Amino acid sequence: MIKTMEQITTIAEMRIHIKEAKRQGQRIGIVPTMGFLHEGHISLVKAAREICDLVVMSIFVNPLQFGPNEDFERYPRNIERDTELASEAGVDLLFTPDVSEMYPRPILTTVSVANVTAPLCGASRPGHFDGVATVVTKLFQIVQPDYAFFGQKDAQQVAVITQMVADLSMPIQIVPCPIIREADGLAMSSRNVYLSPEERQQALVLSASLRQANEWLDEGITLGEIKERVVQKINEMPLAKIDYVEVLGFPDLEPIEKEAAGQGIIIALAVYFGKTRLIDNLITQIR
Ligand code: PAF
Repeated sequence: MIKTMEQITTIAEMRIHIKEAKRQGQRIGIVPTMGFLHEGHISLVKAAREICDLVVMSIFVNPLQFGPNEDFERYPRNIERDTELASEAGVDLLFTPDVSEMYPRPILTTVSVANVTAPLCGASRPGHFDGVATVVTKLFQIVQPDYAFFGQKDAQQVAVITQMVADLSMPIQIVPCPIIREADGLAMSSRNVYLSPEERQQALVLSASLRQANEWLDEGITLGEIKERVVQKINEMPLAKIDYVEVLGFPDLEPIEKEAAGQGIIIALAVYFGKTRLIDNLITQIR
């Protein structure tokens, strides 16, 4: 039987569907997105399809998680194309509320996770993770999923949501999914469309320097030295402006006191190319 996807724009209508799915004992999965879908998002739907009976995708460009000088207004949107891609990928319910449906009045309640939000993107984008944690909590309340699927490109976001779900005893399994890359290595991102051809070419330095970092780890180079080399390599690109290059413990995102083989680490990068800020990371361990 071919199931057709339904598009839902109101919380009330979503609740009716969810109530029925729960009554039937269905396992519900959510893929929260901000749309402008690419293969990274599609891989999340595939992972959801494997273990869930009902796959919900949300598309909502969440104003709460953008700073005043960030790209909320110009964030790429294409709901017609997204609808087609979501349907082909096997989404059952596509939730596309508008801002007035999600925030009918100024929101006075914020979900704020400490410590894991302090470094990396939390340091460069004040308030960003409060916005993410708050909207994700709302989406979880609306969809009541058993599973939620997030891409590891936003590794800190995964850490924040995992911490939040544990701290607040939300009965939801967070499923992190691997970074999906273009054939040339660039991590897929909706923001890649902002890049000029020159910027896009130079942005390959991100994945290339992470690949090299992996080799340097094999050679036993220290983390401090690896970080310096990555910074140097990125700075060779005239259009690149580093926001941060960090090596932290993973999954705690704490500074590494003493390097020991087997210790989980993340090498995380955020770099501007023109106005476009790209992130990428490598999660691995000390050899
Ligand atoms: O990763 C994203 O696209 C967003 O941060 C999310 C999780 C959909 C919350 O708005």
